[in-house]
Amino acid sequence: MDTFEAISQRRSIRKYKSEKVSREQIERILEAAVLAPSGKNRQPWRFIVIEGKKKDDLISLLFCSEKERKSKGVNTGSFSQTITAMNQAPVVIMVLNSYFDTCIDADGQLNHNRWLTDVQGIAAAIQNMLLTAQDQGLGTLWVCDIYYAEEEIRTWLNTENQLIAAICLGYANEKPFPRPRVSWKEVTDWLD
Ligand SMILES: Cc1cc2nc3c(=O)[nH]c(=O)nc-3n(C[C@H](O)[C@H](O)[C@H](O)COP(=O)(O)O)c2cc1C
Repeated sequence: MDTFEAISQRRSIRKYKSEKVSREQIERILEAAVLAPSGKNRQPWRFIVIEGKKKDDLISLLFCSEKERKSKGVNTGSFSQTITAMNQAPVVIMVLNSYFDTCIDADGQLNHNRWLTDVQGIAAAIQNMLLTAQDQGLGTLWVCDIYYAEEEIRTWLNTENQLIAAICLGYANEKPFPRPRVSWKEVTDWLD
């Protein structure tokens, strides 16, 4: 599959088959992730692959957090639907920023430029993962709704790292139509 084909055929997948994803497939996806460019080649990404019983535990934790927040009247947006999709996926990969603490300057202020640079590198790694999965015939979902339960997840993972996203991985059990895009012509200015 050529690069543009992988880019144009990828869809966010929210329904998955129970079929297992092999260890080799996951390793290939992670191999692609760390080939992404990053500011000063800092490679700020970290990954935690969650499967099987641990994934069930994570889903229970997320549903509990969502229920608790809802009971307190907090708006949890699409979190519930996202957890349902995560529940179906046989693999969830947590993506973390291990350099966040180095972005806090001596005066306690966030070094915005460095942090934003690191996040862009991590996003590039995520896109590499999505496209490599696509190339392997796997479906993915890039998830940020996990921020609704950020502290609970970090405690559960026992990590100080900043939570960036979760990636669902598995064989698709749906064929979504392409979601609409604004043409590049409408979002591009040419200066010459
Ligand atoms: C940074 C980011 C965060 C996202 N978070 C979620 C999420 O929490 N739940 C979800 O169902 N989809 C999430 N998505 C998927 C988007 O909804 C999806 O990419 C968009 O609707 C376009 O559809 P497509 O990916 O099929 O082209 C996220 C996508 C990105 C890039």
